[in-house]
Amino acid sequence: MSTQISAPPSLPLSAILPTEPLLLMGAGPVPIPQAVAQANGVIINHLGPTMDRVIQNVKAMAGYAFQTRSTKILGLAGPGSAAMEMAVANTSWPGRSVLCLKSGTFSGRLGEMAQGVGADVTILESEAGRPVFAEQVESALAKGRYDVVTMAHGETSCGVKLVDLPEVCRMAKAHGALTIVDAVVTLGAMPVPMDEWGIDVCLTGGQKALSSIPGVSICAFSEDVWKTVERHPGPRPHWCYDAVRAQRFWGEQQYHYTAPVPGVLALHEALRLVAEETLERRFRRHEMSSLAMQAGLEAMGLCLFAPKDVRLNSVIAITLPKGIDSASLRAYMTKSFRVEISGAFGLNIVRVGQMGEQCRSHNLFKTLYALGMSFIHEGAKLNMSAGMSALEQGLAGDRGETFVD
Ligand SMILES: Cc1ncc(COP(=O)(O)O)c(C=O)c1O
Repeated sequence: MSTQISAPPSLPLSAILPTEPLLLMGAGPVPIPQAVAQANGVIINHLGPTMDRVIQNVKAMAGYAFQTRSTKILGLAGPGSAAMEMAVANTSWPGRSVLCLKSGTFSGRLGEMAQGVGADVTILESEAGRPVFAEQVESALAKGRYDVVTMAHGETSCGVKLVDLPEVCRMAKAHGALTIVDAVVTLGAMPVPMDEWGIDVCLTGGQKALSSIPGVSICAFSEDVWKTVERHPGPRPHWCYDAVRAQRFWGEQQYHYTAPVPGVLALHEALRLVAEETLERRFRRHEMSSLAMQAGLEAMGLCLFAPKDVRLNSVIAITLPKGIDSASLRAYMTKSFRVEISGAFGLNIVRVGQMGEQCRSHNLFKTLYALGMSFIHEGAKLNMSAGMSALEQGLAGDRGETFVD
């Protein structure tokens, strides 16, 4: 038989990838530790005693990262958005009403997903560059009756943090509504104590503050909310993201679908490194790193988009000075310094990530230097030495030691 479609030129990956890897300092994915990269190259059977041990460990370590005693911790093959989909699709259905707190692309996406499963969705939108505040939620809850309240702890698209999250969760509970919290850019970077704050469904992706690979995510359900999940009237809209089916694999070691084995192993290593570092030290590293970077950027003469009281430490949004083009700035930075940062979803900003392995002093100095020099190349007037010095001082720590190595 003759083939009708001829073979394309077979280009090896090495001909496509940069010879020297780029330093990923954008909004994710982020650099991964060696142990995570190695685990991602291993394949074992997705069922059987070895995988069972891996899953038990992943659940125990994820329980630590989420600060929950719930046993309904489900990993899934898919991006952070798939975990959002799992959270929404198992708690919302036609006849249920959802209040979506929106301050940008990702918090708004939860509302789109709730509409997608046929729920009755009300959007409570914040002022631009601000989160939704507790008083706004209080008045929305007083006016309507809601089954679910959705929110993103960190809104990556504009670098804003939902600072009232614990209070919002308390209010929702008092109102009889369950809460879905997207902690994709905050889990592992700052406290998200699921049980203490009374979060019902909390989710994250692998590629952000956990410093694992993209494509394997985690969705944790509280024991309380599980009763709601089980009473979904059906038909369940997402077979793969059906939490009850997923629990067969994650809770009972039975087949659901073929698990993304290397990604789960990578996640195991990423979570192990979180436990080894301890949450306390990890949060301190992230905070110190981000505050030092913010100080460096401001001392250089750049303006940060989000006001300090609501600024998200894990993704710093920098307002572009007049006349500076985001694409041209980033292209120059990548070509000349091998450092990548992120553009934006329609806003006049660029974004620098401060998650996981990004928060290491060598990465910070390289990034701030590369960014400053690229801005200057594009025509901005900046004070490089003031910026680099502020970064150095910010990292010096309380006792003159550098914490962020
Ligand atoms: C806060 C937040 N939620 C959800 C997502 C979606 O994650 P993914 O792109 O892996 O689907 C992102 C991605 O940047 C995010 O920042």
